[in-house]
Amino acid sequence: DVAEKGGYETFMLKEIYEQPAAIKETIVDRLSDGIALSELGLTAEEARRLRRVVIVGCGTSYHAGLVGRYAIERWARVPVEMEIASEFRYRDPVLDAADLVLAITQSGETADTLAAMRLARERGARVIAVTNVMGSQATREADGVLYTRAGLEIGVAATKTFVAQVAVMLLLGLWLGEARGTLSSTERDRLITELRALPDAVRETIERVREPVRAIAEHWQSAGFFLYLGRHIGLPVCLEGALKLKEISYVPTDAYAAGEMKHGPIALLDERTPVVCVACDSPVLEKVLSNIAEVRARGAHVVAVATEGRKEVAEHAEEVIYVPRTDWMLQPIPAIVPLQLLAYEIARLRGLNVDQPRNLAKTVTVE
Ligand code: G6P
Repeated sequence: DVAEKGGYETFMLKEIYEQPAAIKETIVDRLSDGIALSELGLTAEEARRLRRVVIVGCGTSYHAGLVGRYAIERWARVPVEMEIASEFRYRDPVLDAADLVLAITQSGETADTLAAMRLARERGARVIAVTNVMGSQATREADGVLYTRAGLEIGVAATKTFVAQVAVMLLLGLWLGEARGTLSSTERDRLITELRALPDAVRETIERVREPVRAIAEHWQSAGFFLYLGRHIGLPVCLEGALKLKEISYVPTDAYAAGEMKHGPIALLDERTPVVCVACDSPVLEKVLSNIAEVRARGAHVVAVATEGRKEVAEHAEEVIYVPRTDWMLQPIPAIVPLQLLAYEIARLRGLNVDQPRNLAKTVTVE
């Protein structure tokens, strides 16, 4: 058992440390000369004619899709819808041959995602499976397959497969932007350089945040509730961080669009509430900082995740965990790392089995 875990105390921790390799394997040979995604089976001409992209997935895969939505819309200027597979399959969706459907599923076996894929194909859409498992059912039900190459993930709480999914969605966004002529080659090349630097950025993040996160976890291990707030690409990071904490530590969490807080979650805040704010660089950073001020005004305690060098975040939050700077659209990848570790440390301090949390399955093959 110890050997299988490569000296780590749990599979989840091992897999968190494998994230730089998961990203590298997923991107490296697709970046040899520009972006090569021939496995998509989509021509540049077809990419130009797309009317819409629809992304479906469940759980953590849904969160990766949310990041993908921002990247594809920003770089490829095509409308993107993101939907939970179990909702999509029952809402009689309007789809046709001008739609590209991306089904994100780490295992390739999630029943609701497979059903959504079948429905989309019946209605004439082109369906691409984004999966980590070769030969999985999703690969057989799709018109094309885009593999993440994270390696086998054993911990029930997805970690390395999430960052690999986000990385592949970023690649796809760049490829579509190039094919559709909406992204300049200078900008594309700059972003490719940033993508290549991600594995090192994640390695550095893990080393840098491990101790500060542990201290925060010790302080807040008995908190009865955690609120996560973020905007734009910070929001899926919050949703994923909150999911990790509730899955493995059983602490109630909520993740909310920070601008929406005043319409509900603000009522939950008092001096016992830790609020995790993703305040990484983005065009909405100023807005996130005002949300942090609103949280503090209610006496709650803010732990912020910010981009290195952003001293102003420390003036607003009680605690700041800094992650390395990348292009702001790529920030979800380093930013999720401290939130994974926070969930991990709290669950361990509570003496819980992080690799096999109660009631959860790694793969959900029933509806
Ligand atoms: C289960 C797992 C999650 C996963 C979700 C979707 O709930 O515990 O970690 O995100 O299924 O799985 P998939 O294999 O479709 O990505």
